[in-house]
Amino acid sequence: MGVPDSERHRWLRAIWLHDALRDAPATVLEEWASSSPGPPELRHGPASAARARAEGETDRGVLDAVRYHSFGLAEWDMVGRILYCADFLEPGRSFKREWRAELAARLPLEPGSVLREVARSRLLHIIESGWPLPEPTARFWNSLVATGAASR
Ligand SMILES: [Fe+2]
Repeated sequence: MGVPDSERHRWLRAIWLHDALRDAPATVLEEWASSSPGPPELRHGPASAARARAEGETDRGVLDAVRYHSFGLAEWDMVGRILYCADFLEPGRSFKREWRAELAARLPLEPGSVLREVARSRLLHIIESGWPLPEPTARFWNSLVATGAASR
């Protein structure tokens, strides 16, 4: 995408850090994310961000990217947006492989459009599963709608 090295390094830090505590036991998630209730799938981002901060990560954009990578965040800069897309588009996931590969190929050229399609798919999955929509996720979607970005 031709981003400067300094920005690329922020993206890479977020990608390396975001699932640091994904497989951690419940006691560790409680230690690092005591104020973030919910199942491990929703706690490992806040826990990983807290741990990264304790270990010296100071970049607010990187920390917000890690903390909210399962939710989305209206205030994200490009680090959070890229991590949110990369996490969904990584080829190791088994669902909708062709469609996701197409999105991954488009991402460098149309990051905003791909972000909207990723967000739409992730939100539809939450809704179709009958799960409650987390407040940051609703605000994230509304921020895309507000800019006219969520329309097809
Ligand atoms: Fe994760």
